[in-house]
Amino acid sequence: MQEKYIDETKQGEAYAIAEKPTNSKKLFLESYGCQMNFSDSEIVASILNEQGYNTTLDVNEADLILLNTCSIREKAEQTVRMRLAQFKNLKKEKPSITVGVLGCMAERLKTKFLEEEQLVDLVVGPDAYRDLPNLLKETEDGRDAINVILSKEETYADINPVRLGGNGVTSFVTITRGCDNMCTFCVVPFTRGRERSRDPHSILEECKNLAENGYKEITLLGQNVDSYLWFGGGPKKDFLKASEMQQLTAVNFAQLLGMVALAVPNLRIRFSTSNPHDMSEDVFHTIAKHDNICNYVHLPVQSGSDRILQLMNRQHTREQYLHLIKRAKEIIPDVSFSQDMMVGFCTETEEDHQETLSLMREVEFDYGYMFSYSERPGTPAHKKMEDDIPALEKQRRLAEVIALQGELSRKRMEGYSGKVHQVLIEGISKKNKNQWKGRISQNAVCVFDMLEGQKLGDFVDVFVHGNTQGTLLGETV
Ligand code: SAH
Ligand code: F3S
Repeated sequence: MQEKYIDETKQGEAYAIAEKPTNSKKLFLESYGCQMNFSDSEIVASILNEQGYNTTLDVNEADLILLNTCSIREKAEQTVRMRLAQFKNLKKEKPSITVGVLGCMAERLKTKFLEEEQLVDLVVGPDAYRDLPNLLKETEDGRDAINVILSKEETYADINPVRLGGNGVTSFVTITRGCDNMCTFCVVPFTRGRERSRDPHSILEECKNLAENGYKEITLLGQNVDSYLWFGGGPKKDFLKASEMQQLTAVNFAQLLGMVALAVPNLRIRFSTSNPHDMSEDVFHTIAKHDNICNYVHLPVQSGSDRILQLMNRQHTREQYLHLIKRAKEIIPDVSFSQDMMVGFCTETEEDHQETLSLMREVEFDYGYMFSYSERPGTPAHKKMEDDIPALEKQRRLAEVIALQGELSRKRMEGYSGKVHQVLIEGISKKNKNQWKGRISQNAVCVFDMLEGQKLGDFVDVFVHGNTQGTLLGETV
């Protein structure tokens, strides 16, 4: 099962790049969970870089250990607890080391963390990273420090993230924070607070900076990108050409997406995550209009049953979801979709489960992220409903959903065969050091033999001649 949005191999991977020669202290920073956490870690590294910390990959030389944590499922929290336990001996040998917990678990557990985990000195929620320098001073004086205040405004718009451990080719740019949707199963509205949109000028500036630094692909990030909405004055700086410049009084997601596409015409643009309830056809038209916006939509649905969707407070029906998919297929050439699916939500019957499977067949998703429902303390589902589907039953349903997605993925991958696709080279294939790996516009991964003169970050035309369940096999044309 694919647990997260991020390449599985990157979960919990520490990364290092933030180097200032004058810095003398070492930060070991690990991230767990969604892309947003990885992006937030880049903001944290940037703030701490100004406070005398360079990042390190060797935990043994760290003065400060930070884990940026995830609360989305119980298993995600267990992973972090287990990781913390591994630092116990280190702390015994080197008591001066500071151990901090950031992100969603920090926000959810607050002071409980300091009580339950003797090892932890510092607890910082996702909206309080600017306070890190002060909090670290408190820990230097031997006190535990905590800031879990959520903000209605904080977007870290002015902080230039340090690009950590990336490939120098693809990058995230955060456009919204928080979520107001209140899906009944979800802890995110409680851990990441109210939804807010970042100033478009600072988004465009960050995108242009990335382009100038050689990046070739940007993923606009938010829990719910389609509800991006910014109100504010006219352009502060000349990021757009005069012909493209409008008086920016209000900007919605479709407009922002179009502005980004124009501002960095040689870069590919992706975005995540969309919520079917907030997605508008305008976004599809914007994708169709701009060649550099990828023909791909990640559109979580969770269930194919109207009854379950309603209990989840997803605010759309099966039919509305399928209509959205149909319109996207009509408007965007060769569009592909991926899903998030959750099995075993409270009261889910076999019939509901079958509706999930039938919806998957109807849409033919390229791939998906599939989960068993995990009850989260404090959520509406936890308060009002019973987590009544037995673990074994959840497991069986999940296995069926995963098996079906496997079939659909294989079929979709076969559909890409026999054609030429543009691939952005993002790295070297893990299985074969003589092959590149990259993605086509529809987000499917493609591997192909290296040719002389090709390099990381090149866009190359690749003829796809075969596939496995999840990967396309090709050769440069
Ligand atoms: N903001 C995104 C994703 C949020 S979390 C959205 O709109 O969908 C990512 C995925 O984790 C969700 O889509 C859901 O499938 C899964 N998830 C969230 N809460 C969960 C829970 N309590 N148990 C199991 N899976 C969960
Ligand atoms: Fe969670 Fe639903 Fe928002 S899944 S992040 S509450 S859109």
